[in-house]
Amino acid sequence: MLASTLYCFSRASLVAGSKTGRHGLVRAAYKRELFSTAAIKKLNYARTGNNEGVGSLQTRSTVIQLLNSIGSKREVEQYLKYFTSVSEQQFAVIKVGGAIISDNLPELASCLAFLYHVGLYPIVLHGTGPQVNNKLEAQGIEPSYIEGIRVTDPVTMTVVRECFLEQNLKLVTALEQMGVRARPITSGVFTADYLDKEKYQLVGNITSVCKDPIEASIKAGALPILTSFAETTAGQTLNVNADVAASSLARAFEPLKVVYLNEKGGIINGETGEKVSVINLDEEYEDLMRQSWVKYGTKLKLQEIKELLDYLPRTSSVAIINVQDLQKELFTDSGAGTMIRRGYKLLKGSSMQQFGAERLRTALERDPEIRSGRLSVASYLKSIEETNITTYADEPMEVLAIIDNDGTIPRVDKFLCSQAGWLNNVADNVFKTLKRDFGALAWEVEERDPAISWHFSNSEGSFLRNGKVLFWYGINDLETVVSIVDSFLRRVSPTSARNSMNNAFSAKQSKRYYSIASRRAPPKLQGENTSISRVALIGARGHTGTNLISLIENHPYLELACVSSRQNAGKPLEGYTKAQIVYDNLSPDDAKKLELEGAVDVWVMALPNNVCKPFVDAIESVQRESKIVDLSADYRFVPPAVAAYGLPELNDRNEIASARKIANPGCYATCAQLSLAPLLPYMTAAPVVFGVSGYSGAGTTPSPKNDPAVLHDNLIPYSLTDHIHEREISTRLGTTVAFHPHVAQWFQGITQTISVPVKKGALTQDRVSSLYKEFYRGERLVTIADDVPLVRAIAGSHGVVIGGFKVNRSQDRVVVVGTIDNLLKGAATQCLQNINLALGYSEYEGIPTAPSNAS
Ligand SMILES: *[C@@H]1O[C@H](CO)[C@@H](O)[C@H](O)[C@H]1NC(C)=O
Ligand SMILES: *[C@@H]1O[C@H](CO)[C@@H](O)[C@H](O)[C@H]1NC(C)=O
Ligand SMILES: *[C@@H]1O[C@H](CO)[C@@H](O)[C@H](O)[C@H]1NC(C)=O
Repeated sequence: MLASTLYCFSRASLVAGSKTGRHGLVRAAYKRELFSTAAIKKLNYARTGNNEGVGSLQTRSTVIQLLNSIGSKREVEQYLKYFTSVSEQQFAVIKVGGAIISDNLPELASCLAFLYHVGLYPIVLHGTGPQVNNKLEAQGIEPSYIEGIRVTDPVTMTVVRECFLEQNLKLVTALEQMGVRARPITSGVFTADYLDKEKYQLVGNITSVCKDPIEASIKAGALPILTSFAETTAGQTLNVNADVAASSLARAFEPLKVVYLNEKGGIINGETGEKVSVINLDEEYEDLMRQSWVKYGTKLKLQEIKELLDYLPRTSSVAIINVQDLQKELFTDSGAGTMIRRGYKLLKGSSMQQFGAERLRTALERDPEIRSGRLSVASYLKSIEETNITTYADEPMEVLAIIDNDGTIPRVDKFLCSQAGWLNNVADNVFKTLKRDFGALAWEVEERDPAISWHFSNSEGSFLRNGKVLFWYGINDLETVVSIVDSFLRRVSPTSARNSMNNAFSAKQSKRYYSIASRRAPPKLQGENTSISRVALIGARGHTGTNLISLIENHPYLELACVSSRQNAGKPLEGYTKAQIVYDNLSPDDAKKLELEGAVDVWVMALPNNVCKPFVDAIESVQRESKIVDLSADYRFVPPAVAAYGLPELNDRNEIASARKIANPGCYATCAQLSLAPLLPYMTAAPVVFGVSGYSGAGTTPSPKNDPAVLHDNLIPYSLTDHIHEREISTRLGTTVAFHPHVAQWFQGITQTISVPVKKGALTQDRVSSLYKEFYRGERLVTIADDVPLVRAIAGSHGVVIGGFKVNRSQDRVVVVGTIDNLLKGAATQCLQNINLALGYSEYEGIPTAPSNAS
């Protein structure tokens, strides 16, 4: 196993437990209103006092600032949901540096007011360092510190007391002026011993935290505003460093967020003068403590935070920020200031074995397909066994990413992230690592995924279809984009065939089902096989049978072993000179016998729909290497493991060649797919196919649709919805297509006029034409014409002609005309292509490439 160690980290401090707060309902209501003007008005109304104008402006700007800093609605929703799941005391501990009360009081008060009004009760603890120093200096006393701790003699203590009470009152007053109930708590919370009486004098070392005054304040609906005074058990007041006191509080309450507000907005690297954005204690603490610029207060702060984080769950973090960034810190993932956290190891590997089965299952069950039961964990794991994968996960597996390296562009096969993983930025960190490790990447997400905006912001391009979005980054050439979009479209097709598949039909197979990779592989022009093969034709009476017999007659390597037709049984076969053949009427048992004798190399089923199965079963019950090509629709909607879909120009030729069974596509379906495939990446809505066929398409059994008298001077629309070819086209292209078939008075040939809504401005007429030429380059049976191809010209020829491209004036609809001979490329010729592939001949062996009818 290849494993390297990386780190990923958490932002929010996470606390287990989900007691719903007493104010849960109130909060929920605020949550819904958070972004409405009503909510902003409410905040303004809530204010009282004579400076209402100033206050409401302040709060309004706070709200606007919050809205501006929000990365996405998801972030806010997640945080609010999260905050409302803990008791109100556990929301946040905010330590406010003394300088902020002097310099940024209106901003601070407005921030706290905002939180209060949305029903959140942070526990606020403030310091008073600068005020004390100013006062001491005014009295001619030099402030004295040892290792960042203020040496507090009785004179200093008097000043400290005065300052603490003054600043506390200032903050509480400012809050009350904004309609916020706030309660000064200047004693009764911290109990302390002397830290070192000799050295520091009246400085406390906190021994216990009494939560009661704080809880009582919150219960009464007032924000608790604390100083960092402590008392000994004997009642002596002691001074405690505010950072230290805040960390004791955080340890006692285990809040979701621990925030230190300072005027610098973070920790400044003393050497570079730059703000340190992240400190990962597990990695950096030792080193940091050795830095010369880490001293005094900074050192103490880091020590305190380390001790705190060692005690809190690993997901916890402490943010050091300035007051302007408070909301941003609380409600968004994109933190400001300095983030301090312990960090997680991120494990990178190349197999699934490294993960414990239980944890792996838990992580995989976040996948929508697995959760819904459409895919089992076991079959998923089996499906990727042979795949070259790279995996990423953090230790608790909040995030599991599985990258499939096998395609042209590596694909994120699964990106499974827990709620906590989103909230704690583990997802971001894993993604950052992916960006570092992969120059280009593609991935797919359900359109209604709550994190969809996150995916948008992490991608450089996207494509939406059928409720799924394909994302990518790092792809700069259009051709690659087209190819990944192409294979995406094949994958997201909501076909009934796929839906009915059981779990054994794994993801890996489904990937191949829609694989287009080999479409770019040119047709095989040189066959390896030079021996003669024998064809059995079951149901040889129809027009297709006749055409196929004529192709076999002219094929250098094929001969007929037998032809079977109930109606013609006993009659001699005409139009075939390689041997004297009489029509048989084979039963499935007879077919099995022939198969056992090894008399047949390829079976062609030219029967109506729903009747060939007994023959196929009988033949397949014999373990031989013969092939079966079915001309009916019976195997056109099955997984590739059951039968390959024999439209070589759009599918994997190797899969067709190696399949035991091949479904020969329908005539209309062949023409429509070939006419539509190049436009798939541009489509914005369902194309409409208006198709007209000559009456040979209606078969040989007499009906009004093949009665020249009824068709004379006439055009008959039929099966205007849900024609089986409509389903076939839609399924195979992976996109809904409307198809309206008609039958006309000519004998053979189909013309289709296809209207395709496309992305506005993406295509001009010239571009459409060159797009098609490029797409079908090297394909002998597909001709791209500049003019409208005429059905009269296609009759009797073996390929498809597509042309007549038009783009409407507003450049958002393309019209394409496709023509095909329904009996040849629409049936017999395509069947021969498939036989050639299956038997190892050149794909075009025996197919005249010039039209056989030059009209
Ligand atoms: C502070 O008190 C704790 C016990 O509550 C003790 O373990 C610690 O050593 C004391 N710290 C100092 C610096 O004396
Ligand atoms: C798996 O894919 C990676 C990335 O493309 C490649 O470096 C590695 O050699 C591949 N491993 C195997 C066994 O093919
Ligand atoms: C072009 O076709 C699109 C799609 O049918 C349609 O919405 C648009 O109005 C058409 N533009 C013009 C100028 O007719």
